[in-house]
Amino acid sequence: MHHFVRKRGEMVCEDVPLRRIADAVGTPVYVYSHATLSHHYTVFDRAFAGIPHIICYSMKANPNGSIIRTFTNLGSGVDIVSGGELSRAIAAGAPPSKIVYSGVGKMEWEIVEALRQGILMFNVESRQELEAIDDIARRMRKKAPISLRVNPDVDPKTHPYISTGLKKNKFGIHIGQAVRDYEWAARRRHIEVVGVDCHIGSQLTEISPFLDAAGRVRALVDRLMRKGLDIRFVDIGGGLGITYQDEIPPDPRQYADAIAGAFRGLPVTIILEPGRVLVGNAGVLLTRMLYTKPSQEAGGKGKKKQFFIVDAAMNDLARPSLYGSFHAIEPVTARPRRKVVADVVGPICESGDFLARDRELPALVSGDLAAVMSAGAYGFSMSSTYNSRPRSAEVMVSGSRFEVVRERESVRDLTRPERTASFLARRRRDR
Ligand code: LLP
Repeated sequence: MHHFVRKRGEMVCEDVPLRRIADAVGTPVYVYSHATLSHHYTVFDRAFAGIPHIICYSMKANPNGSIIRTFTNLGSGVDIVSGGELSRAIAAGAPPSKIVYSGVGKMEWEIVEALRQGILMFNVESRQELEAIDDIARRMRKKAPISLRVNPDVDPKTHPYISTGLKKNKFGIHIGQAVRDYEWAARRRHIEVVGVDCHIGSQLTEISPFLDAAGRVRALVDRLMRKGLDIRFVDIGGGLGITYQDEIPPDPRQYADAIAGAFRGLPVTIILEPGRVLVGNAGVLLTRMLYTKPSQEAGGKGKKKQFFIVDAAMNDLARPSLYGSFHAIEPVTARPRRKVVADVVGPICESGDFLARDRELPALVSGDLAAVMSAGAYGFSMSSTYNSRPRSAEVMVSGSRFEVVRERESVRDLTRPERTASFLARRRRDR
């Protein structure tokens, strides 16, 4: 469900025509619907109403301050993976008591900052990290609340780059070794064991991997509790998928029922780290057609193929190039046009720079606007300035209002942190 719909043929976000945003702010631009964000959060939260739970929005999906604040205003906590995210989360109103911190490579300054802020817990991914946290907490005369992120060796059946719960992945501590590490952690003076954590992957469209992982985590929690450890939180990570094309992921209810069932009877608070399911379909990348040109390749069904060259590229939305992901592309104004087969490509100097391939689309022409759908998650957050392209603007819509929530970068922004080496700047006289 989302609020990007057609009114009299023209695509709007809530009550604002996308064309108006493109004219006012320029393109490429990310557009987010506040109503969709709130709706998704509320549906997810209600699904877990029957059990004690904390939703920690996984801000890596989209770290824009207005997005985070939309959720923190509704009571959300935040799942972070860096000191940068910690700082942004606090600035956007996240209470530290609802911040969980995952990641295999936490650096000293990041651990210091998280301890200083008093976060809910560190999801620790190795014995050495546990030692580092204990040591830093001792120096700061603090006690660090931790859970171990366990790797349950479950196949999430998703893209290999975003699978995290398999034995071969770098994430977590193998579930078979976890008890030993928990016992070690429990003896440290500056560590307080408070939970168990697990995250098996992203864009999961089946319930069974969640069930398998939850079952294994439950068995571990039971064992730890029998050993007298005070496990108060079970963090089950994120990963619930969304519909990009024709996937039918479990709905939040089914997902919540599965998780609630797995931990029934345990006196724990369940922590959820949803990212994509909250923001994915709440955003589009709005782009304008620059040029078209014929391709030498056939487009199937006896049709010629075309290149649609647009002003957004893989630096703005990396997912199609990186994972071969599908994003629907919708013309913003639906004028009756014949259908053609096209590769939708950006201006970047790589053949891997495409937003869609072999796509049947209306024959768009120069100046037309198109919306790249479901781009709210891992869109702007993975964008770069490759080819010295300033990062795009971001806009949030609420009802009939829209506001820029991140300005378009300027060319000056690209070079601001750069310095010319002094030995290059000085003119050599001895030439
Ligand atoms: N928790 C942890 C520890 C994670 O690593 C992730 C995502 C999440 C929660 C949130 O997962 P979600 O609910 O969004 O599936 N760039 C990729 C996705 C990478 C996911 C990384 N971790 C993509 O564009 O598909």
